[in-house]
Amino acid sequence: MPPTNDELIAEAMTEEAPLLPLLHRIHERDGYLSEEALRSVSKGLRIPIADLFGTITFYHHFAREPGGFEAPRVCTGPICCLKGARDLVAELDGATGMPCSGRCDEPIPVIRGSQTFVGLSANQLTVGDTPVPPAKVGDYEECVFANIRHSDRKTIRGYRQTGGYEGLEKAVTSMSPEQLTEMIDQSGLAGRGGAGFPTGRKWKAVADATGGPKTVVCNADEGEPGCFKDRALMDHDPHAVLEGMALACYATGSPRAFLYLRYEYPETEYLLANAISEAEAAGFLGDDVFGTGTKIKIYLRRGAGAYICGEETSLLNSLEGGHPFPRNRPPYPVTHGYEGTPTAVNNVETLASVPPIVLHGPDWYRGLGLGDHAGTKVISLSGDVARPGNYEVPLGLPLSTLIEEWAGGVPDGHTVQAVTMAGLSGGFLAGHDLDVTLDEPSIRAKGSFLGAGGIMVFDDTRDMIEISHMAMEFFAEESCGKCFPCRIGTQRLTERLVGNAGPDDLEQWLDEVSDLNKTMKETSACGLGQAAPLITESLLKYFPQAVQTHVIGD
Ligand SMILES: Cc1cc2nc3c(=O)[nH]c(=O)nc-3n(C[C@H](O)[C@H](O)[C@H](O)COP(=O)(O)O)c2cc1C
Ligand code: SF4
Repeated sequence: MPPTNDELIAEAMTEEAPLLPLLHRIHERDGYLSEEALRSVSKGLRIPIADLFGTITFYHHFAREPGGFEAPRVCTGPICCLKGARDLVAELDGATGMPCSGRCDEPIPVIRGSQTFVGLSANQLTVGDTPVPPAKVGDYEECVFANIRHSDRKTIRGYRQTGGYEGLEKAVTSMSPEQLTEMIDQSGLAGRGGAGFPTGRKWKAVADATGGPKTVVCNADEGEPGCFKDRALMDHDPHAVLEGMALACYATGSPRAFLYLRYEYPETEYLLANAISEAEAAGFLGDDVFGTGTKIKIYLRRGAGAYICGEETSLLNSLEGGHPFPRNRPPYPVTHGYEGTPTAVNNVETLASVPPIVLHGPDWYRGLGLGDHAGTKVISLSGDVARPGNYEVPLGLPLSTLIEEWAGGVPDGHTVQAVTMAGLSGGFLAGHDLDVTLDEPSIRAKGSFLGAGGIMVFDDTRDMIEISHMAMEFFAEESCGKCFPCRIGTQRLTERLVGNAGPDDLEQWLDEVSDLNKTMKETSACGLGQAAPLITESLLKYFPQAVQTHVIGD
């Protein structure tokens, strides 16, 4: 007999951050969230029914009709659309589209229940796998991918064979939290989730903040279209992520940590849950880490489908069971994070970089970059390249080297017309600006940013207006709607990129779009609304002729 609502609620009440796991259990048990179940949850967790209803309907994946959990959801991200995703939605019975689900290296993903299939048409669908990062190219040394291709690395035994948990042991037995934080600061490691904030400084701010218990959150939401690096790290090297989280806990004085995983990675949830159990059983996590009395408990929580939940304050609201709007800042999570406690939110790649730094030292990590740039960055490369995949590059590597030499260039004799940066959030680079090195200062000098490191390549046959429309439509759908400039601006820009919508006077069209771009950049409350106009801004900069043809014809 499956557990009743009351039994599930009673169990949830004993847990940290109970709402999402409880809803997932009911969703999987019943195949949808019925009104009766929601009323029980509302009563049991004392959440007003209207608030609960508003929250669950905000997410893409909580089905409200019987059978919804098993109904196919097809990725309609930019790369999958270019590969025919809209046709696949039409082909599959009861299918709906979903925003980019982080498999641009293995299109087209379809999620059914708790399983992911991939294939270009209905009769080609096979069970999805996570490709191991392509073999290393050149003499450059890697950090997070150095051991990831070791066949047994995802088990604790294989992880131990390649130095696993030695960094944590070293830290808790022979270093103070301050020394660990200082070491990370010296290494130059900066956030790999998008904003690039120095990791050591963030940890120090949490350690120095008053109040507690302090909290570490691993941001594994990875909702940015064109980004799929965190999935590779978690699927092939889950213990490296856990060890990085444990080190962050030790440095900040946090007895607890949450790993917030995006809904679209169902298989990853099982891998991570297994890795947490292995590490607890070995005494590397739990009440007595390496026999030192240090307490570190890691909780795994799964989102339900919403790009904005990758924004750290939105994520915290989601974890707490609230409506996942971004919070106004300040105060920042380092002083007022999860349930008001000092919280370090870090990306998967950032955390996975920490154990090797502890083992090899800060100078080693700094030295991995080229010139003055410290360290490495994983780039998720997709689109019109011969070998899409995740590549760990030294910061400062020329973009052309990555595309041409590492990834085999653009197939079929075509050339690169444009690339996106930071997934979609950095807009396009094209023309002379493709001559750039992969590091924040160089890319920012071109008006874009590297961010989480997703790069989509579009060859000279692609329609840049169509791609810009897809990109803006994504932002419009994922705008949380809390603030006016982003809620309306993304809609108006989407309309101007399709059909004949908007004025057919070119000057007026350009004025309106430029005005929307400027207003959104200056007045949106969070990174989504500030970044979305980079799409239209860079479209106008690099493809004025295509814009003119779109507005007034040939
Ligand atoms: C709209 C939006 C989406 C984001 N999505 C992610 C995400 O999926 N993963 C992530 O690590 N950071 C994401 N971020 C950045 C986080 O807010 C935060 O800066 C990051 O998790 C901090 O970790 P780091 O310092 O290790 O990079 C997003 C930011 C915005 C504005
Ligand atoms: S900028 Fe957009 S996503 Fe961010 S808070 Fe405002 S409406 Fe929400």
